[in-house]
Amino acid sequence: MNAIYLSGSGNTKHVVTLLLNELGNTGICAPIESEDAMKALEGDEILIAYPTMFSNIPYLVRDFINSHGSSWKGKKIFLITTMGLFAGDGTGCAARLLKKYGAEITGGLQIVMPDSIGDCKALKKSKEQNKAIIDKADKRIIEAAKQIREGRYPKEGLSFAAHLAGLFGQRLWFYNKTTGYTDKVRIDPSKCIGCGICAKNCPTQNIKIADGKAAANSQCTMCYRCVNYCPKQAITLLGKTLYEQPTYDKNSM
Ligand SMILES: Cc1cc2nc3c(=O)[nH]c(=O)nc-3n(C[C@H](O)[C@H](O)[C@H](O)COP(=O)(O)O)c2cc1C
Ligand code: SF4
Ligand code: SF4
Repeated sequence: MNAIYLSGSGNTKHVVTLLLNELGNTGICAPIESEDAMKALEGDEILIAYPTMFSNIPYLVRDFINSHGSSWKGKKIFLITTMGLFAGDGTGCAARLLKKYGAEITGGLQIVMPDSIGDCKALKKSKEQNKAIIDKADKRIIEAAKQIREGRYPKEGLSFAAHLAGLFGQRLWFYNKTTGYTDKVRIDPSKCIGCGICAKNCPTQNIKIADGKAAANSQCTMCYRCVNYCPKQAITLLGKTLYEQPTYDKNSM
């Protein structure tokens, strides 16, 4: 099985890596923005993984699926979404889209991980709480790998009940947040030192360095990678104040 994933702060990357290791999988495992994602697309069986955003698919993932519409016919797709709290049909959203292009959905897995939105105070948890969430997630992933090895694919997020939960629980109220790329990234020029880390790592190449300062455009998929890795805490997105910079590496220590 090949894997294609989007991961802003490392949660989804960790889940995918652990699952594939547990499965003894040796296929291509590629970030969605990399050239290797195109090679991964050639496989007959593909894992697609991404963080839930407002009980929906990140726009970059939707764009990728639509841009390669003719590639999905007859492919077996297993979906993973990670979430801070509630996904509803986080996997189901991609499943329905992929089915329109003729893909067969083999299953879905929805894993709770620490939240990645560093500029929203209400979502903050202690270090111990985040570590406990990761430990619990790891146990679930290992159990899911066992089921998959036995041919029993989890079907999380794919039912009609999950569809209703995702739609009415969140998506309807926040639908406009995930219907396109956004221009909401804010970079404080008084803090930015022009190091280029944000520009180098942005999966949509939405940030450029000009005259020694970073500047964002309107192609942001809200992955929070630039926000969470800026060494000068110069970037915000949904909120106005940065409270922390959550990443999988920090939370798992
Ligand atoms: C813009 C945005 C929206 C999010 N919306 C949701 C959500 O609707 N439900 C949820 O449980 N988590 C939500 N999250 C949290 C992430 O899905 C979660 O932290 C995920 O594991 C991050 O994965 P990553 O580190 O691979 O990017 C959201 C995160 C972001 C950045
Ligand atoms: S990572 Fe931060 S400091 Fe570095 S260029 Fe980007 S905004 Fe500026
Ligand atoms: S601008 Fe930042 S949050 Fe937006 S896609 Fe790029 S790295 Fe992700």
